[in-house]
Amino acid sequence: MLVDVLRCPRCDRGALREDRAGYICAQCSAGFPVIGGLPWLFRDPQGAAGEWRARLTLLLAELRADADGVTTALAGQGLLPATRERLTRLGAALEDHGRRVTQILEPLQVHVGAADRDALRALRTRMPVSQGLTNYYVNAHRDWAWGDAENAASLDLLDGGGAETLSGARVLVLGAGAGRLAYDLHRRHGPALTVAMDVNPLLLAIAQEMYAGRTLELHEFPLAPRGAAEHAVLRTLRAPAAADERLRLVAADAMCAPFQPGAFDVVVTPWFIDIVEEPFPALAARINSLVADGGRWLNLGSVAFAFLSTQRLLQYSLEEALELVQRAGFAPPVVREAALPYMQSPASRHARVESTVAWAARKTATVAPPDSRGPPEWIVDATLPVPLSADLQSHARSTRIHAFMMSLLDGRRSLNDIARVLVEQRLMKPEDALPAARAFMLKMQEDAGRRINV
Ligand SMILES: C[S@@+](CC[C@H](N)C(=O)[O-])C[C@H]1O[C@@H](n2cnc3c(N)ncnc32)[C@H](O)[C@@H]1O
Repeated sequence: MLVDVLRCPRCDRGALREDRAGYICAQCSAGFPVIGGLPWLFRDPQGAAGEWRARLTLLLAELRADADGVTTALAGQGLLPATRERLTRLGAALEDHGRRVTQILEPLQVHVGAADRDALRALRTRMPVSQGLTNYYVNAHRDWAWGDAENAASLDLLDGGGAETLSGARVLVLGAGAGRLAYDLHRRHGPALTVAMDVNPLLLAIAQEMYAGRTLELHEFPLAPRGAAEHAVLRTLRAPAAADERLRLVAADAMCAPFQPGAFDVVVTPWFIDIVEEPFPALAARINSLVADGGRWLNLGSVAFAFLSTQRLLQYSLEEALELVQRAGFAPPVVREAALPYMQSPASRHARVESTVAWAARKTATVAPPDSRGPPEWIVDATLPVPLSADLQSHARSTRIHAFMMSLLDGRRSLNDIARVLVEQRLMKPEDALPAARAFMLKMQEDAGRRINV
């Protein structure tokens, strides 16, 4: 049963039990809702819901702006008939996409048009840093529309040909995305319980529909469309069959995972370890704490650690990663590698072949996990004062200067005028003011037109 493996992500101690509205901690009494059928086990469940709601609102505003841009282009003179046709299709698809995504995320209760796009852009936060609502949207199409060959190849590589059965095991898939690998593993091996966990409610909601055996129609917007018809493709997503009730979805953050220590016989990390913003040694220790004694860690994906691109120290090679796995309390991993097709959408001219690594490592020792990296208490409890660190003070000052600079933009002032004000306000020395104003205004002009990741 799902509830047997759960632990409170707020106090990191108490067991969770089900009550009418969701889950409740036996120790600290924190409550966690079920949203749209998904156990919503974030440390700060309301905050997480609010954040995803804001992101969806922003996504809808961006889609609206994109569709408006298409309408404006269509109003132009002298368009090729083929251009007109492509834009007409695309505009309709963008609008329809917004409606479909809103419908899927209806349980988040987004009020379309309720918030100001500029305010949302300015105030958007990140949870966890860099994980946007549509970051891995294409994975859903790969999982449930056109990716059978890719999905099968991934399963086989992870599974080592199915040599070691998971029958009767408790399995956790971290960063399960739209859920296909968890589904395939579950169907192949029939574990006692498979928990597919992710932070992203859009992907989870898609997985939920698939697991229930329902179909979804969603637009794919390929990276490099093959032709006019492929600029937006309405696809039907469906699973081969409904999943059984032992395959469960959970919305939560792996950095404060809501599970009992050692709750799983197998923890699977598909395309996950190198996209999270935690140094690999800490993540490996975190995974150790979720695996039962003698259990296994199955990993699949690239070993690129590219997210920490500025920190050379943390960009571990495969060899280092394998050593770090052992330091984190696992036996030497059994490694397999294969060149796998990756995101080869039939609608796109862009397709990858990934030299993919899979390992299986047995837990031999328990190591201390790092502290949970959930939001601090003053975020969860909105009545507490927001601490003001020296860093934050300095950031507040630079943000004020930023806002002041922007307020000088009135369509009449030149760079010289702006630089003069900076000197008058004693914000800069005369010799620094003009170069600073030039660089700042150039960056602002560029940023203003840039699409953002929601
Ligand atoms: C590269 S995608 C892989 C998705 C899926 N495993 C697949 O192979 O298609 C990484 C996934 O990790 C999820 N993710 C990122 N950070 C996470 C976190 N801290 N906790 C849980 N899931 C996270 C993302 O939402 C995304 O679905």
